[in-house]
Amino acid sequence: MRKCNLLFLVMACMGLICPVHATFVTLETPNTRLILDATEGQQLAMLYYGDKSATPDDISNQQSAISNQPSAAYPAFGDIDMIHLPAIQVQHADGDLSLNLRVKSVEQLSTFNFQLSTFTLADTRQPLTVRVCYKAWRNVDIIETWTEIEHQEKQPVTLKRFDSGYLHIGEGDNVWLTHLHGDWAAEAVVTHEPLTRGLKVIRNTDGSRNAHLDAPELMLSLDGAPSENSGRVIGAALCWNGNFELRLNAPNNGGVHLYAGIDPQSSEYVLAPKRVFTTPHLALTYSTEGMGGVSRTFHRWARSCGYLHDGNATRDVLLNSWEGIYFDITEQRIIDMMDDIAAFGGELFVMDDGWFGDKYPRNDDSSSLGDWVVDTRKLPNGLQALTEAAKARHIKFGIWIEPEAVNTVSELYEQHPDWALQVPGRELKLGRGGTQLVLDMTNPKVQDFVVNMVDELLSNNPYISYIKWDANASIQNYGHALTAQRSNSPKGGLTSNSAAVNNLYIDYHLGLLNVLQRIRAKYPDIVIQNCASGGGRANYGLMPYFDEFWVSDNNDALQRVYIQWGTSYFFPSNAMAQHIGGSPYQMTGRVVPIKFRCDVAMSGRLGIELQPKHMTDEERLQCTIALADYKALCPIIQLGNLYRLVSPYNDQSQMTNVKLPETQSVAALMYVTDDKREAVVFAYSLTNFMKQAPRRIRFAGLDPEKVYTLEEKNIRVQYNHAIGAWDKGEPCALHGKQFTGAYLMSVGLLLPLSTEYTQDFPSRIFYLK
Ligand code: DGJ
Repeated sequence: MRKCNLLFLVMACMGLICPVHATFVTLETPNTRLILDATEGQQLAMLYYGDKSATPDDISNQQSAISNQPSAAYPAFGDIDMIHLPAIQVQHADGDLSLNLRVKSVEQLSTFNFQLSTFTLADTRQPLTVRVCYKAWRNVDIIETWTEIEHQEKQPVTLKRFDSGYLHIGEGDNVWLTHLHGDWAAEAVVTHEPLTRGLKVIRNTDGSRNAHLDAPELMLSLDGAPSENSGRVIGAALCWNGNFELRLNAPNNGGVHLYAGIDPQSSEYVLAPKRVFTTPHLALTYSTEGMGGVSRTFHRWARSCGYLHDGNATRDVLLNSWEGIYFDITEQRIIDMMDDIAAFGGELFVMDDGWFGDKYPRNDDSSSLGDWVVDTRKLPNGLQALTEAAKARHIKFGIWIEPEAVNTVSELYEQHPDWALQVPGRELKLGRGGTQLVLDMTNPKVQDFVVNMVDELLSNNPYISYIKWDANASIQNYGHALTAQRSNSPKGGLTSNSAAVNNLYIDYHLGLLNVLQRIRAKYPDIVIQNCASGGGRANYGLMPYFDEFWVSDNNDALQRVYIQWGTSYFFPSNAMAQHIGGSPYQMTGRVVPIKFRCDVAMSGRLGIELQPKHMTDEERLQCTIALADYKALCPIIQLGNLYRLVSPYNDQSQMTNVKLPETQSVAALMYVTDDKREAVVFAYSLTNFMKQAPRRIRFAGLDPEKVYTLEEKNIRVQYNHAIGAWDKGEPCALHGKQFTGAYLMSVGLLLPLSTEYTQDFPSRIFYLK
């Protein structure tokens, strides 16, 4: 915290500028700075967010020369002019809708890892305070912000809007927005658009997961159309799994105002006196290295600051049973699949849906959720026989559950129909299988049921080392009637002493977080995959409790290039579960060679998801080579720094089919170790036409002075007529060649992506050392 400089005060006395008694607070990360004016008795003002070139003196001098009021750091309804939007709006018991928040105090706490600054703002009329908090990380360019709202009014106060954070971006002439929009099996479609004047709202109202349609992250490129490796870019990620709203307001008088928080629609929160409502965290970053710089910062933060469980660990290579056998689980099939993944050199087998149900066997998706007992018709010797079989094969064992759901055809529903979200007297809206409902995670009994179920599963089967936690239903029955009965309960709220349970959309997630915290407290080492019909829960609200997430239910390798590309904007590769699927692929019917399927899955956390019994000899050999090579490269791929080189979106002609692209359409990315001594490059050809000009690929992130030797990996297998079998293939001519980092980055390489192939979808992986 520092006072305005002496010069400023002297100038003020001389009448050059109006006297102010500003108290600037500067928050810093390694390369960024946020400057606030925290003058006591005034609005907390946001003056600057960017790199370290701006000092408080610069900002102060600039402020003095313009007539615009600085933006409030947490704009309140009733305290802002008509061109601004509020970040907070409340209704006091007497109907007063206003807040006039003024700085009361500032506290700063320094730890080895971060500096936490808390600005306490008090309303001028009512005993209501808002603590605006900023956590500036010392080792990574992320500032997290959130607020804590509390009051001592005589009656409850209704929170009508309560954003996690707000950011004022001073310039607004040519700002571009990048965000992800998608759907089930088509997640994370990247959209870049110029931000026009007016209001842009990005919102998701699914209820139980928030990343399938619009995702709660965005980037803002401040220097015009976004670039991967240059330009100033701000990144924002709301750490919340429920409904959210991101608003970008670009008023006529310039600038851009970013607001992010829980979606206020249907989310009014009644805050009792002396309770604290804590908003989810909003993570902000700023980079001068383009979108890639923002992505790398989010990845580093996720891994090293607790936003990805066990973030700095690599994940095992697995076989998942789902697309191989679906619900047709038998002991023999499962053991056969374990033999297969062990033979491929994998490390883990995961038994997916279909293993449970007593009175109602889980033979399809219309029954049994909630009945977490082994179906002994399918698995007569129980889970123990399977875990022993896994142990004997020196692989780990994982299992699928969907703990937050119940089918109306289940023993759980027969015993506890009231545990499902519903409104008494209204017809139930049923989800997957025509019978699926969401359990009421606001109910402490349901929370205990889920915790105990997971606890029993893990304590009775100590060899289970991995859980796939699925969530396949949106909230469709808005059971306020049930939650209202508990509205006087002392529990609930975003922190333990927060408001009573009173809003389904919020309290559902608080209940879920409570469950996850309890499970993690007892089982910190279990690997848990976050799955929601694919990537429906890829968000930083849940990832602190999960080691990875299932990127998409769509395993078509071509579409996966796009899905994984978009997902990588915000999430690190060791969190991204990517599986080699079958061909022709069941969703799209596309025939994709095994080499391409392996190469696409190998760029994240590698797995296999098909029936190995149906694989050809060629596929089996290619997979074995892929797994061996992947395991050697795994630390670089899963923990290295990502550089996206050529976007699959670049070639518009391929997207619209208007004309054949003259130049090959390619996607390429690479991972580089921190010391820049090693890297792995992935290149995929998305079009393969005769006489197409090859695409030159410029690498990134290397040391220009270093000399790198290229080694081709996962070399395509060949049929060896001499032995009458599939055999190892020959590497391309670049194998063993040396180049300087400078050459690779500024001139680049023409990769042999089509000429040596007679197969569609050529692809290459190179290890650089
Ligand atoms: C949806 C998941 O995304 C799939 O991977 C699979 O686990 C199914 N649920 C099982 O029902």
